[in-house]
Amino acid sequence: MRVAIVGFGLMGRQIAQVFAQRGHDVKATDTYLEALKAGMLEIEDGPYGLKKAVAKGKLSMEEMQQALTRIHTTSNMAEACKDADLVIEAAIEELKLKRELFNQLDSVTQATTLLASNTSTISITKIAEQANHRQRILGMHFFNPAQISKLVEVVQGKETSQDTLSSALTIVRQIGKTPIIAKDEPGFVTNRLGLTLFMEASRMLEDQVASVRDIDDSMKLAYGHPMGPFETADLVGLDTRLRNLESLYKTTGDTKWLPPKALREMVNHGYTGDQTRRNGSKGGYYEYFSIER
Ligand SMILES: NC(=O)c1ccc[n+]([C@@H]2O[C@H](COP(=O)([O-])OP(=O)(O)OC[C@H]3O[C@@H](n4cnc5c(N)ncnc54)[C@H](O)[C@@H]3O)[C@@H](O)[C@H]2O)c1
Repeated sequence: MRVAIVGFGLMGRQIAQVFAQRGHDVKATDTYLEALKAGMLEIEDGPYGLKKAVAKGKLSMEEMQQALTRIHTTSNMAEACKDADLVIEAAIEELKLKRELFNQLDSVTQATTLLASNTSTISITKIAEQANHRQRILGMHFFNPAQISKLVEVVQGKETSQDTLSSALTIVRQIGKTPIIAKDEPGFVTNRLGLTLFMEASRMLEDQVASVRDIDDSMKLAYGHPMGPFETADLVGLDTRLRNLESLYKTTGDTKWLPPKALREMVNHGYTGDQTRRNGSKGGYYEYFSIER
């Protein structure tokens, strides 16, 4: 299968790696040239990159080289997408931008190409609203880190066809992941639950009920979560998390999604999350609140 990735940031890279490791040809595009270079480096040598998989014995050196040669980058979106069977958009979380991208994708792809957005919170129906081929647009929401996470949330917009949905489910299974189907409701399934936990954790922090670390530990030790709500936010990227909440608040008008003051302050002061994954970040919750990790 030929896959095109539009937006080669944190998620685009991970998704590209997943497909390349499974033997698919990938063309990745981004408007920011540095992202293309940095993306390839991260795929090869990042925290969940191919070299790590080789070191863990999950991949041979030869398989790593093959995966790398399957990924091509270009700044030309039309070139990346023109012969793709599947396009996954992983550009920043903004409705206007995603709408424009899907309108363009409509005309630069084949009539049978599946057009998926990796959006965490934006309505697929709204993203597709002005496109001509709304029936082939859907959500394929991968989780961070996509190389490890087993889940892909498949979101059916109002006009997504059954054929598009079933093709997406088949693809998700082919790449060794488990799909869930979500209705196109704000936050879908995973973020409605995940962000609810994060919002309550933020309110507890604001009310000084417990520290960042103790709130994280409570979810890990009591409920068996692999990461606490603040560690998860740091991994996701605090700028992305802020955009997710803003988008949910804008869509629903529900004040329960109003972004926490501390989150906005952190992003404004350059704390955009995990420094090993976010270029130029001063850190996340642990650094901002001066807690040793
Ligand atoms: N960060 C996460 O943990 C996470 C998890 C699941 C889903 N998502 C979703 O995935 C999407 C991407 O998030 P991210 O964290 O990878 O963001 P990111 O900021 O790391 O990457 C976004 C990339 O999109 C590029 N871009 C911007 N405009 C573009 C355009 N017109 N054409 C092509 N590329 C363009 C940027 O240069 C950047 O490299 C968002 O919709 C986000 O909500 C993020």
